[in-house]
Amino acid sequence: MLVLGIETSCDETAAAVVSDEGERIRANLVLSQLAEHQPHGGVVPEIAARAHLDHLDGLIARALAAAGISFADLDGVAATGGPGLIGGVIVGVTEAKAIALARRLPFIAVNHLEGHALTVRLVADIGFPYLLLLVSGGHCQLLIVEGIGRYRRLGTTIDDAAGECFDKGAKLLGLDYPGGPAIERAAAAGDATRIILPRPMKGRPGCDFSFSGLKTALRQAVAERASGDGRLAPKDTADLAAALQAAIGDSLIDRTANAVALFRARHPAGNSLVVAGGVAANAALRRRLGDLAQRHGLDFIAPPPALCTDNGAMIAWAGLERLRLGLTDGLDFAPRPRWPLDPDAAPAIGAGVKA
Ligand code: KG4
Ligand code: ZN
Repeated sequence: MLVLGIETSCDETAAAVVSDEGERIRANLVLSQLAEHQPHGGVVPEIAARAHLDHLDGLIARALAAAGISFADLDGVAATGGPGLIGGVIVGVTEAKAIALARRLPFIAVNHLEGHALTVRLVADIGFPYLLLLVSGGHCQLLIVEGIGRYRRLGTTIDDAAGECFDKGAKLLGLDYPGGPAIERAAAAGDATRIILPRPMKGRPGCDFSFSGLKTALRQAVAERASGDGRLAPKDTADLAAALQAAIGDSLIDRTANAVALFRARHPAGNSLVVAGGVAANAALRRRLGDLAQRHGLDFIAPPPALCTDNGAMIAWAGLERLRLGLTDGLDFAPRPRWPLDPDAAPAIGAGVKA
């Protein structure tokens, strides 16, 4: 089977072709809109939607050429149907529907989070169930992946996502957007023990997350050290980046340890911990999750960093998995700005709940 996947839910325009035979990833092109959003210190939805529209046609043509195939060779077309910035999602979904209609191909609307959740099966031979820490710019959840379309949420954030905390933290430290890679680079030269930031939710029961208090603590730590023009000394920048990365990491590890216990109780034979989403590209976090898994006798599987951040291959693969089960969508599918993976999950304890 050959499936085209389109991802346009945030600030990457991405198109990929994957197969379930032989070489799985036949083409995987990601066009970052970084330069367009960087001056604004974050993603501007209207700029993103227009950029997707400008680039998507050409990118799909290049992906098919890179895979050495034409539209006629495809078995299906998948696009991110949500959740995400709705203007961009509409661009991708409309394009996929048009191709499906013109070429008489099945159309699959993929939940972006399911794309992240199933990426591991594109690169590793892993069955269900597995425990998943999904950490990205918009989401921070612990889930048991029990099958395609079958997700049991154990916890979520009551305010910001971990990636958002990296991004906002980087902004406070005067580092580039996106903040995760910038914090990771700066932290490499820093001392994580000189300035101690709070570890949100650490030691509390359950698997929910919270990061807004950490952001406030960082703002205060910056204000205490900044000179008159608001600048930090390079050593303070590096040490605060290391402190932030350590605090986010401690919080993620503590919550994941609680989730391991719940996973074990529900699935005594379950033996894998998986991480996915953009923050999963963080090397320090990967190392710590690997140690945690080892302590609990679990296998730890993390897709390569380039497949953790948003890409088309993850959407194509989730589309392929759905197509194999006959789970296709009609051309009347309406793009969804919000689309929880586990609609039955109880709301997180606290205010400002995100899906
Ligand atoms: O999954 P993703 O590409 O987009 C969303 O669906 O949100 O995740 C993007 C997020 C951003 O917040 C970015 O700062 C974070 O992932 N990120 C990282 C790293 N690379 C990307 N966070 C920490 N360390 C990294 N190396
Ligand atoms: Zn994502």
